[in-house]
Amino acid sequence: MERTLILLKPDCIQRRLAGKILTRFEDKGFNIVAMKLLRVTPELSKKHYAEHVSKPFYPNLEAFITGGPIVALVLEGLEVIRVVREMLGATSGLKAAAGTIRGDYSSSRQMNLVHASDGPEASAREIALYFRAEEIVASELTLTPWLRADDES
Ligand code: CMP
Repeated sequence: MERTLILLKPDCIQRRLAGKILTRFEDKGFNIVAMKLLRVTPELSKKHYAEHVSKPFYPNLEAFITGGPIVALVLEGLEVIRVVREMLGATSGLKAAAGTIRGDYSSSRQMNLVHASDGPEASAREIALYFRAEEIVASELTLTPWLRADDES
């Protein structure tokens, strides 16, 4: 079972798309095991986007991600890191395939609505930036036997 860190970015909250996007993850069968509304500070942005801090687009990215509330959540499920990235589509909404979240709702490279961890190391690092261990509430939903067979876990 894997976990991934998802951010519903300020554009997602301002455009009131949070419900629709959470529904897509729920419909797919993934479990929300932690979730909060918060405002990203410049310090947190620099930690989260450490690999982008020296890039020319970073000042705009920081202004954007700190510019309004976000929803941070942890999703749990089989192969959730890869599957969620596929559900999001390419980084730019202009390049993302129709049917993906960005392909359906974004027409921007920066305002691409949702962040998701790109691998297991990033996921562990990013979850620890946003959540303390006791804020993660794992539980087996009664629906699970109707989402996958016993030998698929
Ligand atoms: P995200 O998946 O959160 O990871 C890094 C973010 O930087 C990315 O989504 C985009 O929002 C942003 N980003 C990546 N490349 C560019 C770029 N060339 N110009 C502006 N923003 C970018």
